[in-house]
Amino acid sequence: MPVPIRIFDTTLRDGEQAPGFSMTPEEKIRLARPLEELGVDVMEAGFPIASDGDFRAVQAIARQCRQVRVAALARAVEADIRRAGDALRPAARPLLHTFIATSDIHLEHKLKKTRAQVVAEAYSAVRLAREYADEVEFSAEDATRSDRDFLLEVLNAAVEAGATVLNIPDTVGYSVPQEYAALIAWLRAHLRFPEKVILSVHCHDDLGLAVANSLAALASGAGQVECAVNGIGERAGNASLEELVMALHVRRDALPFTTGIHTEKIFPVSQILSEITGVAVQPNKAIVGRNAFAHTAGIHQDGMLKSPLTYEIMTPATVGIAQSQLLLGKHSGRHALRARLAGLGWELNREQLEAAYAEFILIADRQKLVYDDDLRAIAAQLGLAPTAAQSA
Ligand code: KIV
Ligand code: ZN
Repeated sequence: MPVPIRIFDTTLRDGEQAPGFSMTPEEKIRLARPLEELGVDVMEAGFPIASDGDFRAVQAIARQCRQVRVAALARAVEADIRRAGDALRPAARPLLHTFIATSDIHLEHKLKKTRAQVVAEAYSAVRLAREYADEVEFSAEDATRSDRDFLLEVLNAAVEAGATVLNIPDTVGYSVPQEYAALIAWLRAHLRFPEKVILSVHCHDDLGLAVANSLAALASGAGQVECAVNGIGERAGNASLEELVMALHVRRDALPFTTGIHTEKIFPVSQILSEITGVAVQPNKAIVGRNAFAHTAGIHQDGMLKSPLTYEIMTPATVGIAQSQLLLGKHSGRHALRARLAGLGWELNREQLEAAYAEFILIADRQKLVYDDDLRAIAAQLGLAPTAAQSA
């Protein structure tokens, strides 16, 4: 039986923190409903101490989104936790997420705290957070560069204080899959009460490994994955929600985990996010980039016309994209040209196709893509007779 995995979406928090992606409270509220409909289990709506706007956004989302668990972030500091707790008050199912760094690099250079202080502050933060929410997530920031025994000590303290989720962030995207999977397995084996908590993973993409690391951790017993739509987030971003979900969906033979995501809503949500932030998705982005279901090479187009199974591992409809595209360019062949002209209303015999192809290649050499208007011009130039459908 596949194991259900919780999808913790942080598009509105970690995603929004990245340059160019910040959102007004109204924009966050606009994106929250589609995220809820997408089927995420937890939606991290913001960092309420950061600004009044973020406080209002979290509060409004908590009030409006009743089907999803709404989370708010707080440092392990009393004022942050109280502010996050207040913002979450209207939530049907609040999750208060508190964090402190555990690596020596962060302790020495950023926090200027001893290990004992960090343990005590993590414990107090979780205790206080439990006054506001039945579900409290504790994150050990920079967990993957932390001393393992110290990391375990902090996590055990957090569980003792009442944490229900332990998040093990690869904050700087430093880990590699086998190492990250081993860390999760080791923590599960050594935590004092592993059965009391969900282990969560939160990976950044500095080495392009965020999704691979997250997937590797699932096999070691992680029960929650943190991710963001279009992979947005600090620096190179967070693990991409669409890549994670579709890897689990397409490769369910190899990855026996399920999510509650309605995959056909993936592309529409990705588009809404781009529209709100004004940042387009890179064309070759997996799943949601405009080239993800586009084919230009002649051999590929020929294969696609015979069966989409030849060059597509999922149908575009699975992720909410209307159809694949066979784009015509200098790498396209006669099969694709004939099919496109037929679609426009010209059925060509062999001789006509040769003549049309010669004209087509001349245009393709001049410009990157050949459009329908160019094909119409070719048809006119060759004096091709339109079919009944076209002349009707
Ligand atoms: O990357 C990180 O460590 C974080 C934490 C706040 C969870 O975003
Ligand atoms: Zn992060």
